[in-house]
Amino acid sequence: MTTSTNSTDADPGPGTERLQKFLARAGVASRRGAEDLIAAGRVSVNGEVVMVPGTRIDPAADTVAVDGETAGIPETLWYVMLNKPAGVVTTMDDPQGRPTVVGYIPEGAPRLFPIGRLDRDTTGLLLLTNDGELAHSLMHPRFHVPKVYLAEVDGVPDEQDLRTLRDGVDLDDGRTSAAEVEVAERRRSTSVVRLTIREGRKRQVRRMLSAVGHPVRALERIAYGPLPLGALAPGRVRALTDDEVAALRAASRGEA
Ligand code: URA
Repeated sequence: MTTSTNSTDADPGPGTERLQKFLARAGVASRRGAEDLIAAGRVSVNGEVVMVPGTRIDPAADTVAVDGETAGIPETLWYVMLNKPAGVVTTMDDPQGRPTVVGYIPEGAPRLFPIGRLDRDTTGLLLLTNDGELAHSLMHPRFHVPKVYLAEVDGVPDEQDLRTLRDGVDLDDGRTSAAEVEVAERRRSTSVVRLTIREGRKRQVRRMLSAVGHPVRALERIAYGPLPLGALAPGRVRALTDDEVAALRAASRGEA
């Protein structure tokens, strides 16, 4: 371990990396979040608390722990897509004992965590991975990864409603940013709205549509960034292809 706050320091030593980068790769937090953990004195290297974010460590030789729990880089990176059924919570452990997405992770997989969340009653595309760095950067609001939803709503939004949804809806946590929206289907007393948002606030789609007077009856996510849900059946999970992972990486750099 070498302590330094300067990322441009000469000769940091072969195979070393900055502590916050290591923690991000280990899936502990984003780089920024890892800096906060370090500054809060929650990170130790070889048993010693380290409070300098620029500290360089050798992942092969140093033991890094957060709150006393050892953090490690997974040997094999897993990327899977789940078509989440309704009634399943997007957590790894639910204190209320409800079914969680863990029940859908393939046998033999390491501990995977979800990239973002779907509400319990929302169905559709959920990505899970043990690639902490990719997950954190995809979830970072800076990259505005588009997420596409089909919402069955009460009634049919009119032109004014659609304009409001596109331009920004005033929610209690602030105005939403620009969205794409269209009525995809009209039914007897409901309609299906296709909505693309680039934020990821809690229950955002439901709140946006309620705010314009069209509460959601059913919600499905049909695309995340460059990846469509396609024909994956509810409750089924599949590994991403190398091309899909590459496309996600590009999206995580703001290139898609
Ligand atoms: N917006 C919602 O309201 N719910 C979800 O599950 C995802 C986006």
